[in-house]
Amino acid sequence: MKVIIVKNYEEMSMTAAAMINAQVRENPESVLGLATGGTPERTYELVIETNEKSHTDFTNVKTFNLDEYIGIPKTHPLSYYTYMNEKLFSHININKANTHLPSGEGDIKANGIKYDEDIKKAGGIDLQILGIGENAHIAFNEPGTSENSTTGEVKLTESTIKANSRYFDSIDLVPKTAISMGIASIMKAKKIILLASGANKANAIRATVEGTISELVPSSFLQKHPDVTIIVDEEAAKLLKQYRETAMCTVFK
Ligand code: PGA
Repeated sequence: MKVIIVKNYEEMSMTAAAMINAQVRENPESVLGLATGGTPERTYELVIETNEKSHTDFTNVKTFNLDEYIGIPKTHPLSYYTYMNEKLFSHININKANTHLPSGEGDIKANGIKYDEDIKKAGGIDLQILGIGENAHIAFNEPGTSENSTTGEVKLTESTIKANSRYFDSIDLVPKTAISMGIASIMKAKKIILLASGANKANAIRATVEGTISELVPSSFLQKHPDVTIIVDEEAAKLLKQYRETAMCTVFK
């Protein structure tokens, strides 16, 4: 695992956007794994800026998102389908037919199986972007998820429902289940970048980087992946031992 500690959310976003742009320039037919949530919002804005100014070409890029709610239609203003279109896809020259999100409508089990097959058919994910939950979930793989899990239906924990309720009018309106790429599906990505900003992620980051690998900390499975870069700001990094030892320097492991 490589850990890059940056000053703040803006620097985290600039670093992540630069890595996405570099990936697309190096391989214009890249398959990107994308995340939703508050964490990557600024990263996407910066990717859009580069697409406009430097013409990074997304025409032949394919994308697969991590997850989608079950229980709201994909056209709902708070669906991840809507999020991705509003925050990225509608502003870059990507072919919408090349963008994929797991479907939370219809036969979820069949949707999950097909989703993993579609990723495989596309050649696998070249670069996967991840956020992390306060409880160390990656995608919607909550504590207790098996390392062998593939894309399918998951139940959201109280902590995740509470965190996501900030977008809904009331906590009762937050869906209780979702369809999510599994841990095994995520681990197949050739390269993974995990982003975290803010003190509320510090415990999860410490457990991810320095903790024991365990189902109780889904992100800890990333320790087994050969190419993971964790980009964290000072607040999210503040409980890392290396962080204290290197006095806020960028850490490469
Ligand atoms: P956030 O969510 O980016 O909104 O903090 C991250 C996650 O739950 O994975």
